[in-house]
Amino acid sequence: MSTSRGRTPEQFDAHRVRGRFNSAFFWVMGGYINWHMRKRKADVFADLPSPLVELGSGVGANMRYLPQNSHLIAVEPNPYMHTRLRRAARAAGVSLEIRGVVAERIDLPDASADAVISSLVLCTVRNPDLVLAEVRRVLRPGGRFSFTEHVAAKRGTPTRWVQRLLRRPWAWIFEGCSCERDLEHVIRTAGFSAVDLDHYRIHSPFLPFNTHIAGTAVA
Ligand SMILES: C[S@@+](CC[C@H](N)C(=O)[O-])C[C@H]1O[C@@H](n2cnc3c(N)ncnc32)[C@H](O)[C@@H]1O
Repeated sequence: MSTSRGRTPEQFDAHRVRGRFNSAFFWVMGGYINWHMRKRKADVFADLPSPLVELGSGVGANMRYLPQNSHLIAVEPNPYMHTRLRRAARAAGVSLEIRGVVAERIDLPDASADAVISSLVLCTVRNPDLVLAEVRRVLRPGGRFSFTEHVAAKRGTPTRWVQRLLRRPWAWIFEGCSCERDLEHVIRTAGFSAVDLDHYRIHSPFLPFNTHIAGTAVA
């Protein structure tokens, strides 16, 4: 399948400048972003099994939710994240296996995972429907997908208006990130046997980024 930009969803173009910028940005800002999301993350990322699959691990924002000595399979196609991700895993006492592929095509067998997690990733992947089909494929029946993601604000609200206005520069800086995705709909229609999610708002100066969902879907 081709996209309008002539690339397939299985391809990831690592940008030399923006790739490095995003790696440094999430390294520096990770603590602040996590502070805003901490209560929801503590809830949905409680009792994670090992091994665990994470989509778009970035520089390791979620290491703190993994028990010591657990094994993380990180699906992270951006090579500029990998050095910091390895460093974060070492500091957290987590054994790390990086899969440098996109979440639209995960190189893991069917029904091989007990759990998959993501935070702030479905906004950036090229094709969230394909990603969720892959999550369902790699999860064993009854396995869980736990997520904390930012989403489109309600239509007609000032936040939605700002999300629209800033969509192009935002996507350019943050490597394709969209603040206008209805990810609740995407997750609820992905074919999971059960979905439990909440909407919540954070209060950061990054206005387009403030409307979130968090929850768990069962395969
Ligand atoms: C906004 S960052 C979030 C990183 C981390 N999860 C966090 O919460 O800080 C988005 C991450 O998704 C990764 N990513 C982008 N496209 C992806 C894809 N198609 N499949 C998997 N990961 C992807 C990026 O490289 C980046 O690490």
